[in-house]
Amino acid sequence: MIGKKMEELINTQINAEMYSAYLYLSMSSWCSQHTWNGFAHWLRLQAQEELTHAMKFYDYLNERGGIVTLPAIDAPKAEWRDVLELFKEVYAHEQKVTGMINAMMAEAIKQKDYAAEIMLQWFVSEQVEEEANASEIVVKLEKIGPSAGGLFQIDHQLEKR
Ligand SMILES: [Fe+2]
Ligand SMILES: [Fe+2]
Repeated sequence: MIGKKMEELINTQINAEMYSAYLYLSMSSWCSQHTWNGFAHWLRLQAQEELTHAMKFYDYLNERGGIVTLPAIDAPKAEWRDVLELFKEVYAHEQKVTGMINAMMAEAIKQKDYAAEIMLQWFVSEQVEEEANASEIVVKLEKIGPSAGGLFQIDHQLEKR
């Protein structure tokens, strides 16, 4: 059995992970349009990862006898000024998701929902990695500034992800 509050939080999180996938797909498409194939590749893989996150929550909720509700997924934006602005938004988005995961963990602890705590531990670690990856790209982009050569180099590096 699962508490109503935890069920609600997990349903919200399934939607948020799906939205993350939508957002990164939209970003990937923008990068493709601007022939940043490495950035596009990185974001496309990131979108796929977000879908696996959604499915982890989905499977967990079903396993625990909860009811999965699937509200509409918001449309993400589709235009960015440049890759720096775009990746700053990736980083900000991951920080927001970390906040949501932390709030769920706080609720699990409060409810003494040990099963949820163990499931959420994986996401706490995952968010450390997600934030580190996004922040590293932002720092690199800030370092090279408007140098086209530097941008091409980072784009090429990310193609190997
Ligand atoms: Fe995620
Ligand atoms: Fe993420």
